[in-house]
Amino acid sequence: MRDKKVGFVAMTAEDKAADNIPKIGIGMIGQAFMGKAHSNAWKKMPYIFWPPAAIPELVTICGVNEEALKESARRYGYKRYSTNWKDLINDDEIGIIDNGTPNYLHAEPSIEAAKAGKHIICEKPLARDAKEAKEMRDAVKKAGVKNICCFNYRVVPAVVLAKNLIMDEKLGKIFHFRARYLQEWITDPEFPIMWRLKKELCGSGALGDLGSHIIDLGRFLCGEIKSVMATTATFIKERYNVQTKTKEKVDVDDAIASVVEFENGAIGTIEASRFCPGRKNYNTIEINAENGSIWWDLENMNNLWVFWRGEEPIETQGFHCINVTESYHPYYDKWWPHGHIIGWENTFVHIVYNMIEAVMKNKPLEPYIATFEDGYRNNVICDAIAESSETGKKVLCKFN
Ligand SMILES: NC(=O)c1ccc[n+]([C@@H]2O[C@H](COP(=O)([O-])OP(=O)(O)OC[C@H]3O[C@@H](n4cnc5c(N)ncnc54)[C@H](O)[C@@H]3O)[C@@H](O)[C@H]2O)c1
Repeated sequence: MRDKKVGFVAMTAEDKAADNIPKIGIGMIGQAFMGKAHSNAWKKMPYIFWPPAAIPELVTICGVNEEALKESARRYGYKRYSTNWKDLINDDEIGIIDNGTPNYLHAEPSIEAAKAGKHIICEKPLARDAKEAKEMRDAVKKAGVKNICCFNYRVVPAVVLAKNLIMDEKLGKIFHFRARYLQEWITDPEFPIMWRLKKELCGSGALGDLGSHIIDLGRFLCGEIKSVMATTATFIKERYNVQTKTKEKVDVDDAIASVVEFENGAIGTIEASRFCPGRKNYNTIEINAENGSIWWDLENMNNLWVFWRGEEPIETQGFHCINVTESYHPYYDKWWPHGHIIGWENTFVHIVYNMIEAVMKNKPLEPYIATFEDGYRNNVICDAIAESSETGKKVLCKFN
């Protein structure tokens, strides 16, 4: 028996006897890196955030390889699997579509899911360009469904603490935002071509992959970006295709560096590259403001470094490291005793927790969670960075 609302399972007598927590069906598109990370989050969320507003029920996982899918369904605990994402859209048992596919497959399933009245989490970058992202933003707005663009670094407790310090005006006027997101994995010229290196499939290279994350952190913490001036580079212009056994053109950026201006007068720098030997997943941000500075890096994600101007005594003034694991810190009351740190995968637990809260209690996701509106604006900024690199000119970010 089903409720009238799509994807909600009516309570069985057994549920009622248990504790009256409803269930909501999840359809996961993508079964690889993000499919695994998101499935883990759906499973773990009620375990940590007990009692949840609804218990996610893993209904169907979708991908391209049937054998691997069968294995994933068994491993992660989905009732069904499918090689056709439309099966998930047409399934009344599914209330939330979670899209962890390559960038070229973000738009169509998200738009169709919105039309079917399903809530949506879509991986970043929201789309390959701002035009495609706008169609997605408009579709969820029209359908009135809850929507998240999975900029998961917003929900790291230390980053939320930084956000709260800024919102509480503890830092005062912001002067600088400085961000770098660096990885090393395509430095080797023998690394083969893949969807992340073909514009038609991904939209852009390091820009949309890594740059979009730090653009989001800049917007989240410092406000809207007004203009950009950037350079991009493609260091290795051809790569081997293991299937066709031929060389193919790399038509996306390998690295970007951009100066950005914020609407509030702050200026910033954004650098993203996948050509940084030794850098594994080095995502770091620094903010300098009237009353002090803060910095954070993902590889030590539980720590927030803070410097307060004028702190007494002057002899011990300096950056302090706050281990953001106290029960009074964001999200941490649900986790472990202080000092028992959490890891990267749990950012997705926070993302799905927020989605369930929003759906079940009709809570707004803004300003702490990135929505499709944020995803669209992020794509506008990415496009402006690409345009600036091409023209050599400063480009204004125009949102509509
Ligand atoms: N938020 C983050 O920290 C983060 C990290 C990594 C990747 N991502 C984003 O997640 C998305 C996926 O990245 P990934 O690394 O998991 O990619 P991946 O290549 O590892 O996996 C892509 C998955 O999509 C599935 N897929 C491809 N075509 C399909 C189709 N037509 N129908 C159904 N399924 C299809 C594949 O079977 C595969 O399971 C990208 O947009 C990427 O930018 C986000």
